[in-house]
Amino acid sequence: MFQDSPGNLVLFAPTQHSMCYSLSQHLGAEVGEIEHRQFPDGETYLRVLNNVKGKKCVILLDLVNPNPKYLPLIFLSNTLRDLGAESVGLVAPYLSYMRQDKRFNEGEAVSSRIFAKALSHHVDWMVTVDPHLHRFASLDEIYSIPTVVVQAAPAIAEWLKGESEVMLVGPDAESQQWVEQIASISEHPFIIGEKKREGDREVHITFEAIENNLPKKVVIIDDVISSGHTILQCVNELKTLGVQNISCATVHGIFAEDADSMLILSGLTELVTCNTVAHHSNRIDVSRFIADAVYQCL
Ligand code: R5P
Repeated sequence: MFQDSPGNLVLFAPTQHSMCYSLSQHLGAEVGEIEHRQFPDGETYLRVLNNVKGKKCVILLDLVNPNPKYLPLIFLSNTLRDLGAESVGLVAPYLSYMRQDKRFNEGEAVSSRIFAKALSHHVDWMVTVDPHLHRFASLDEIYSIPTVVVQAAPAIAEWLKGESEVMLVGPDAESQQWVEQIASISEHPFIIGEKKREGDREVHITFEAIENNLPKKVVIIDDVISSGHTILQCVNELKTLGVQNISCATVHGIFAEDADSMLILSGLTELVTCNTVAHHSNRIDVSRFIADAVYQCL
């Protein structure tokens, strides 16, 4: 039988996101329940256990490793619509398929455009945190639904509060937007490196402006850690330059192939992430900013 929800807002977290409790508290939302499993042939069974008729539904799902999550997501959003939900929105604290934003080599799929077009059919709005916008100026270029982008910079700057004699370091030009924004709030000096990527796991990083002004401590800032090789090369280069105390704060910690262990072994003093992707390094809670963004969409 359906469970009846007292309020008008129901939050579903199909993969039990660690932010579910705090987000439901900030939103004053009931936490919805679903039953889902795989049939022996790999197909998905899904059943919604709440009465969502006339309710506003929010699906919380980080889109790390998106392929196996995509079909269950669209089954859930379409079922909520079929059951009479007034609206169905997606909170994707980490938004996947943002980095293949152009055809670098002839014949390649521009997956960011294709993914955005597909997702736009299945939800009414979307909230995400610091998507990797590099060649697209905004999500509106590829998403046809209303979207709100939450910036993690204020939360990261807050985490840096009280740290003196720290220099912020961005590994590459793409990180400059985040580093600049955080530095403008925290008032720390910063430098940006130059990165050459030769392959998925082959990265070269150089810093020019540091030799004459060696900081006691640096905090490397990036939007996402995937293979970890960008941060690893940063750490190695900074150590070569004589920096002893190196921490790293990133928005999204994906940590493919045990990249977190590799980074700790590289000599990082501290590895900190926002809670957009559940991981034991989550020290920076962005759920209240996400709740504010959700209210803008309802
Ligand atoms: C790319 O420019 C991003 O800002 C990150 O630096 C990059 O995606 C990190 O990837 P990885 O951890 O695989 O080096």
